[in-house]
Amino acid sequence: MTTVFGHRGYPARFPENSLAGFRYAVEHGIEGIEFDVHLTKDQVPVIMHDEQIDRTTDGSGLIESYTFAQLRQFRLANQEPIPSLAEFLTLVTNRDVQLNLELKTDKIQYPNIERIVMGMVHATALKKPVIFSSFHLPTLNTCQKLAPNEIYCWLTDRRVADPVALVTREHLNGLHLSHYQAGIPVTERIWTVDNPTVAADLMAKHVAGIFTDDFEMMMQVKQQVAN
Ligand code: G3P
Ligand code: MG
Repeated sequence: MTTVFGHRGYPARFPENSLAGFRYAVEHGIEGIEFDVHLTKDQVPVIMHDEQIDRTTDGSGLIESYTFAQLRQFRLANQEPIPSLAEFLTLVTNRDVQLNLELKTDKIQYPNIERIVMGMVHATALKKPVIFSSFHLPTLNTCQKLAPNEIYCWLTDRRVADPVALVTREHLNGLHLSHYQAGIPVTERIWTVDNPTVAADLMAKHVAGIFTDDFEMMMQVKQQVAN
């Protein structure tokens, strides 16, 4: 069965990576949520896709250049502040949702982000283990040393030459890919799938997960594929 993940929450209807989107999603039966984490200057994990706040808020500059208190002055398009990881984890506590926490460390390697984030996740009552992903393999390696029994998946938009060798060597649970790779004998989740025909095909091929901007539409597709 393919798990449907809301990519950055529910951006088809709410600002991406917003608490409003996450809240709606968990209250309307979302199966999985993918979200992106950075650190502020004072090492508070916050949820945003970009390293800069320019595209999605009324402010500008790098997340890492602001303290959390300073960052909270800026507003998303729905007038909410940038969510903290702590707020998000409170929202999903004891919810039946599969989380995919993406550590956004491919452009900026935030000092100690792995330990800070892992500590917060482990302090939260969650019904399912968290899938940790990153484009930056050393980040996942650091996480593995801290918490060997979590789920780790490497993100890449490239074709992986030998997926089995890679996941074995890096002790990964799977790969999160931008393109379906036919016949890949490891756990594979695909982003970003917003076309219903493509999604139905991937579901029929039993990929482990798809990341979509419109999870409610994709749940209808999943229902149709199951019937
Ligand atoms: O985790 C899947 C996807 O979110 C990776 O790309 O750039 O949307 O974070 P990006
Ligand atoms: Mg992401």
